[in-house]
Amino acid sequence: MTDWKIRRAPTIQTELEVPGDKSISHRAVMLAAMSNGPCVIKGFLPSEDCMSTVGAMRALGVEIEVADETTLIVHGVKRAFTAPKHEIDCGNSGTTMRLMAGILAGQPFRSRLIGDASLSKRPMRRIIEPLTKMGAKITAEGKDGRPPLVIQGGNLQPLQYVSPVASAQVKSAVLLAGMFAKGKTSVTEPTQSRDHTERMLEYFLVRPQKQGLTVSIFGDQTPESREFRVPGDISSAAFWLVAAAAQPRSRLLVKNVGLNETRTGVLAVLVRMGAAIREVIEEPQAEPIGVIDIQGARLKGTEIKGAEIPNVIDEIPILAVAAALAQGKTVISGASELRVKETDRLAAVAMNLRAMGAQVAETEDGLEILGGVPLHGARLESFGDHRIAMAFAIAGMFAEGETTITGTACVNTSYPGFYATLESLMRPPTEAQTRVITSLPTR
Ligand code: S3P
Repeated sequence: MTDWKIRRAPTIQTELEVPGDKSISHRAVMLAAMSNGPCVIKGFLPSEDCMSTVGAMRALGVEIEVADETTLIVHGVKRAFTAPKHEIDCGNSGTTMRLMAGILAGQPFRSRLIGDASLSKRPMRRIIEPLTKMGAKITAEGKDGRPPLVIQGGNLQPLQYVSPVASAQVKSAVLLAGMFAKGKTSVTEPTQSRDHTERMLEYFLVRPQKQGLTVSIFGDQTPESREFRVPGDISSAAFWLVAAAAQPRSRLLVKNVGLNETRTGVLAVLVRMGAAIREVIEEPQAEPIGVIDIQGARLKGTEIKGAEIPNVIDEIPILAVAAALAQGKTVISGASELRVKETDRLAAVAMNLRAMGAQVAETEDGLEILGGVPLHGARLESFGDHRIAMAFAIAGMFAEGETTITGTACVNTSYPGFYATLESLMRPPTEAQTRVITSLPTR
């Protein structure tokens, strides 16, 4: 089904889990593939984006077994990849293309990376520039540094790179290339972006050094094969968190979710907006895993800007929906990166919110939303962007009348089971669910 029909939903009183973290699933496959033996990856996200990374690694001669839907056994090749026999299709996944470019920059062979129509419009100069400085030869076949990319790698020099963008993808591409350079490669970012690559390198016993906003790595190290557990994706949880936060009598528990503090900005924003939230880290491993307990409220507007932006970069569409449901004004600024995601997310959010009756002004690098105007159902486009589809499905749960979201197949890039959970929340909570939730301590 590619169109979703959404209607106003009852109060949420339930607990749920979300599928594995997308960023972490990509990195787990890549680091395991570089390691010196078999690695079992549990909780892997079997979405289209992460399967693009699996396909890319298989094309480089890595054996990857699918033990069950969320468990992979990746047979590490000790960084000795073989030349691909065909081009590598990254699908819709920017993380696959940019991080694989880092790895391929270190390989003594030629490879060609392609992507779908959306990925083919995304900027790649941000990784071409540092990887070229390290010695790789990269040609962007698209206009203005856009994909496809042809990479002839090998013989890399280490680099001290000061990145102009706070991008975990740029940082990771340079660090992964640095694994194949002789000597110390460093990346300094303008503000902290998600730090999964650094944490996971550490976990796989390749020691990165961190000082302030600079991460360094010594090349020629092989990750040690180990089992790894991927936590639930807080960016997927964010849709349900907002659905609960914006309804005064709602209560939601999200279990087994990643609580890495470079990703939990969405919780801080929702607390500022008035929700009551408790987070408990249960497994403080490489990637902390725990529970989020949220109680809804009459939300109020807030400001989202500056160093907080990279932490909530993927949550801005759903936070904009929260802002439309809140009383007062919300100002989001410093978020121009949203214009070069799977679609121009600032334009898409503004257009869809307006179609539902909200008051929104689009600025060059953000949005100004005057919340509290009742939303009405509308026929909305996903713009081929999974996070736009899901954010507006949640908006539909609060709207008068029916909301239709078109072009929802893109949701399979990050959250294949989203609609099944949405349907379950459109039904009133069962007695058993209510009993579990009302037995929890209130705050
Ligand atoms: C990601 C980093 C972010 C994020 C993307 C995943 C990653 O992109 O938006 O969904 O896995 O490193 P940028 O690093 O380009 O900001």
